[in-house]
Amino acid sequence: MKKNILILKGDGVGPEIVDEAIKVLKKVEKKFSHEFNLTYADFGGASIDKHGIPLTDETIQIALNSDSVLLGAVGGYKWENIEQSKRPEMGLLKLRKELNLYANIRPTKFYSQLSYSSPLKESITSKKIDFVIVRELTGGIYFGKKETEIIDGKKIAHDVMTYSEDEIRRIGIVAFEMALKLNKNITSVDKANVLHSSKLWREVMEDISKSYKSVPFNNMFVDNAAMQIISNPSQFGIMVTENMFGDILSDEASVITGSIGMAPSASLSSTTLGMYEPIHGSAPDIAGKNIANPIATIMSVAMMLKLSFGMNDESLAIENAVLKALDNNYRTVDIMPKDEK
Ligand code: IPM
Ligand code: MG
Repeated sequence: MKKNILILKGDGVGPEIVDEAIKVLKKVEKKFSHEFNLTYADFGGASIDKHGIPLTDETIQIALNSDSVLLGAVGGYKWENIEQSKRPEMGLLKLRKELNLYANIRPTKFYSQLSYSSPLKESITSKKIDFVIVRELTGGIYFGKKETEIIDGKKIAHDVMTYSEDEIRRIGIVAFEMALKLNKNITSVDKANVLHSSKLWREVMEDISKSYKSVPFNNMFVDNAAMQIISNPSQFGIMVTENMFGDILSDEASVITGSIGMAPSASLSSTTLGMYEPIHGSAPDIAGKNIANPIATIMSVAMMLKLSFGMNDESLAIENAVLKALDNNYRTVDIMPKDEK
């Protein structure tokens, strides 16, 4: 198969981890006789330095014309104090919106090889932990009306959380289809005891669940979900939630595995175009030292091959190679036993 992949290395550890993931892509290309045509473009802080903005129209166009996008990470100290609308993170949000990547898939898998680095007790991790957070990615408070105004000489800031029925339904369907395919249960996470947008969220999720009678379904408040992820994570199959709750809960979930450096993600649209990136950030404190864990990015490539290109064997080969590397005790510093650091 011939595929065009846009590579956005980004900032901080981005270039280092993406370079490792490209080695994996090249290996798959050879082993399975595919042709991966890689294109590179500026993004994030690197784009601010060159073009004054984190995401240019040119990069958007290249992304739209690609079969998928591989992203490292964006942001860093250097761009922390610039105007909000020009920050590297705003480029990421704009790219998600422009590519209509409304479904963010964030798997949490416990690796028994790394059990020593999980902060959870063995009585919790000895049960199978393998769940997926399906995070709505192009709506909610991230994209609602934002403003800071001055009333009677004092500043007041607003961020509005808005959801339409259609936006909730389309992410709900992604989650239920995934639950059906993977034979997992669904927990819909909201704050329906307080928020209007969550009441609508719950109403729509309950309605969808009527069409998926074979999928076990329950609702959970987000504060309770934050607690249950730590105290009883093996209960979860698919967790579907709105944008900001998903942002927070997926960072929390990632530490179960022992390191956020292990957690990949896929952001999907209604076509096969997707964007794949580790869930961790640009880690400017360790950038340039070549010590960052590339596994999250390599596993993001595995997700790309499976979800955008339908290359199941290729994807599995990458997952198995990662497991083998762990079995053979290859470790970056974030997943090293304390006495070996
Ligand atoms: C993530 C990140 C982004 C988000 C930031 C960098 C804007 O935290 O992908 O989880 O909040 O979505
Ligand atoms: Mg986040």
